[in-house]
Amino acid sequence: MKILITGGAGFVGSSLAIALKTNYPSYEIFCLDNLKRKGSELNVSRLTQAGITYVHGDIRSKEDFDSLPAVDAVIEASAEPSVLAGLDGTPDYLINTNLFGTVNCLNYALKHKADFIFLSTSRVYPIKTIETLNFVEEETRFSLTDDQPVKGVSSKGIAEDFPLDGARSLYGTTKLASELLIQEYNEFYGLRTIINRCGVITGPWQMGKVDQGVMVLWIAKHYWEQQLGYFGYGGTGKQTRDMLHVADLYRLIDWQLHNIDQVNGEILNAGGGVESSTSLQELTQICQEVTGKTIPIKQVPETRTADIRMYITDNSKVTRLTGWKPEIGVRQIVEEITEWLDQNNKALEPILK
Ligand SMILES: NC(=O)c1ccc[n+]([C@@H]2O[C@H](COP(=O)([O-])OP(=O)(O)OC[C@H]3O[C@@H](n4cnc5c(N)ncnc54)[C@H](O)[C@@H]3O)[C@@H](O)[C@H]2O)c1
Repeated sequence: MKILITGGAGFVGSSLAIALKTNYPSYEIFCLDNLKRKGSELNVSRLTQAGITYVHGDIRSKEDFDSLPAVDAVIEASAEPSVLAGLDGTPDYLINTNLFGTVNCLNYALKHKADFIFLSTSRVYPIKTIETLNFVEEETRFSLTDDQPVKGVSSKGIAEDFPLDGARSLYGTTKLASELLIQEYNEFYGLRTIINRCGVITGPWQMGKVDQGVMVLWIAKHYWEQQLGYFGYGGTGKQTRDMLHVADLYRLIDWQLHNIDQVNGEILNAGGGVESSTSLQELTQICQEVTGKTIPIKQVPETRTADIRMYITDNSKVTRLTGWKPEIGVRQIVEEITEWLDQNNKALEPILK
C-alpha cells in the first residue's frame, strides 16, 4: 500500500504515519507538510528515521501535488486546527488551507482513485446549540443529562444527528464545508471516503498551545511550573471534554484503511467518550499527582470567544459499524505525556514552555 498523509509532520499525521510504518513495514508512506505549526519541524527527523518520505509542500498549491506519486489512500490530516483562527478578521489562511486545500487533496485522490480519510472535528456542531444543552453541575465537572432540547445528544454525549444549524467558528465551518464536498466526491465521482469527526485528540508529540492542544499545554505548564487559568463558566474549571489518545485513533484509522467498503461514505463521531473525559479541575488534580507539582491557577469568570461548556463524544455509531472503541484513559494519557516531556525536555522547552 502507498499512503499520502497531508499534515504528515503534525501531531496526528506523524503519529499515524509512524504507527502505520511500524505495523506495516512494506507500506510506502509519504508525509506532506509545510511546517506551519511550530514544533512540526521536530517530527521531520522522526519520520525519516522511521523510513517515511517527508515532502515539504503546501496543500494550498495544486503544483505541490504534481511531484507526488500515485497512492492507494490519502489521509487528510493537515489544517490550521485552532478554533480561534480567523476570528480576528483574517480568515484567509484558514479558508485557503482547510477548505480550498482540502479540494486539492480531493482532486489528487480522485486522479489516483485513492481512498480518502478525512480528519474532521466535533467543532462542526454549533456553539449556541451546545451551550443551551441541559447539564448538571457536579462537584468537579459539568455533565450532560439524558433530557435534552434537541436530538442527537444524551448523557453519553453528542451523536452524528445533532442539529447543524448555527455558527460554529470559522474553523468548524471550513471543516463542515469540506465534509459537504467530500460527500459530493463520494456520491458523484465514486471516491471512497470516510469522515471522522474527532473530539479532542491528544498524546505525546502534540505541540500544545493555548488555542489548541489543551491537554499537553496543561501538563507542560505543571511540568515547567508556570501559571494557568480557568477561563469562563464561573472560573471554577468545571468545563469538560473527552480525550482521545492518538494511539486509539490510530487503531480506528488502521481499521478504516483496510475495511473501507464497510464504512464508505460514512460520517463518524470518534472521541474518548465519557470514560475518557475530564474537567480542567479534575485534570489539574491528575497533573499534580503525576508531575508532583502544584502551580497557581487564576480564576477568570468571563467565558472566552467560541468556547463551549462541555463536549463529550457519543461513539455509539462508530462502535456499532467498526467495533472500535477507545481504550486509553485520561490518567494514562497524562502519564505518557509527562514521560515524553521528561525524555525530550531540551527540544520541547522552547516550544511548550
Ligand atoms: N488535535 C485535535 O484535538 C483534533 C481534534 C479534531 C480534529 N483534528 C484534526 O486533525 C488534523 C490534525 O490535527 P493536529 O492536531 O495534528 O494539528 P497539527 O497542527 O499538529 O497538524 C497539522 C499539520 O498541518 C500542517 N499544515 C498547516 N497548513 C498546511 C498547509 N497549507 N499545507 C500543508 N501542511 C499544512 C501543519 O504544519 C501541521 O504540521 C487536523 O485536520 C485537525 O483539524 C484535530
